[in-house]
Amino acid sequence: MRITTVGCGYLGAVYAASMASIGHEVLGLDVDQKKIDDLKKGIAPFHEPGFEKVLTEALASGRLRFSTDYADAADYQVHVICVGTPQQINGSGADLTYVHAAVDALIPHLDKCPDGRSLLVGRSTVPVGTAQILAQKLKDAGTDTLLAWNPEFLREGFAVKDTLYPDRIVYGLPDDGAEAAEAKALLDEVYEPMLKADTPLVTGNYPTAELVKVSANSFLATKISFINAVAEVCEATGGDVSVIAEAIGLDDRIGPKFLRAGVGFGGGCLPKDIRAFMARAGELGAGEALSFLREVDMVNNRRRDHVVNLSREMLGGSFTGKKIAVLGAAFKPDSDDTRQSPALYVASKLSGRGADVTVTDPAANERVKTERPNLKVAKDAFEAAKDAELVLLLTEWDEFKQLDPVALKEVVAEARFIDGRNVLNPAAWREAGWDYRSMGRP
Ligand code: UDX
Repeated sequence: MRITTVGCGYLGAVYAASMASIGHEVLGLDVDQKKIDDLKKGIAPFHEPGFEKVLTEALASGRLRFSTDYADAADYQVHVICVGTPQQINGSGADLTYVHAAVDALIPHLDKCPDGRSLLVGRSTVPVGTAQILAQKLKDAGTDTLLAWNPEFLREGFAVKDTLYPDRIVYGLPDDGAEAAEAKALLDEVYEPMLKADTPLVTGNYPTAELVKVSANSFLATKISFINAVAEVCEATGGDVSVIAEAIGLDDRIGPKFLRAGVGFGGGCLPKDIRAFMARAGELGAGEALSFLREVDMVNNRRRDHVVNLSREMLGGSFTGKKIAVLGAAFKPDSDDTRQSPALYVASKLSGRGADVTVTDPAANERVKTERPNLKVAKDAFEAAKDAELVLLLTEWDEFKQLDPVALKEVVAEARFIDGRNVLNPAAWREAGWDYRSMGRP
């Protein structure tokens, strides 16, 4: 198949390279010249394990090209929208500017592909009802191009694996039976290797496919906030949330995943998706149905503030001039993405209250330097912790999980530690002389 991906961020660039790696001819389009120049040279514009390898191999195969010129899309049959839908600056809904801009830019170049009728595929996470609006937009523009919705479920840090070996594929198809069959046949060709490998395929109409994505992310966010709410009760009672998570996770109706209590969820998806879902439900007159998601968001935000409050308590009530080391800046390990990062939120709060904060992150240091110039940045945990009166672990990178409490104690001024991700062994740290605290564990 000849496929374009419109938008070459985490989603689109990984999708473009992965689709080329399974034999398709792919053109990656983006309006950002620097990003396109880097991708053409095989340079990943973000940290994503395994991506540069797939990218270089796909470029070498000759099946992957990049361009900023949308006119180049004319020869391609399937156009996949992979642009971001961030939270609106002045609201909690999703900002669809990039989606509409992408479709508007493509429209003049559709219906020209010699291979047959074109298909526009939405992969971005959008408020329910968007696909219908875009389908109408295509019709109003007089194009013959079909539209399907095909949400992605990739996790940063596993983006290549999740694209090539998804646990399910979802199609949102037109209501018209003939159009639905035609769109499905094209999508089946795109995903032929995955379907041959028996990846479950779920099909529905446009709103169903749009809702699958936000429902999945809302459920995951709810699971995390649920265990974090239990952690709050553990903190009030002396219970151990890790043991509770293990025990309830053994019930296979609940399962053990996404029950890690800590400083909460962040990133470019879960926080903004639950807010956009609530905002859209409100517009549709169904706001009450999702009011619990407000609580999910509030529990999540409370965890960050809890770490700030615990820090103050451990430092004797004041932050002024206190040296604090923050281990982690990305919202999760194996990523340099700092969007809605709990670690950066806490670091900035501490700094704003007068502490002398040094952050270190194996992948996001450069981002921190540009995005938060008020924070000091160190090359590793030992440099960050030098003379610190408090050390916080807020992103569970392997190199932090493997820290030696005895060696780290040598460099700090005061052996106080907050494990915001519950990843260290409390006994080992306490034996080494640390005042070690974690989230909902005694
Ligand atoms: C998420 C979804 O998992 C993915 O399917 C969707 O397509 C995009 O959003 P991602 O944002 O990459 O992916 O991160 P994810 O691994 O889901 O983690 C989200 C946040 O939750 C991270 O900050 C992580 O640290 C936190 N988390 C996760 C917890 O605090 N506890 C857990 O048990 C799991």
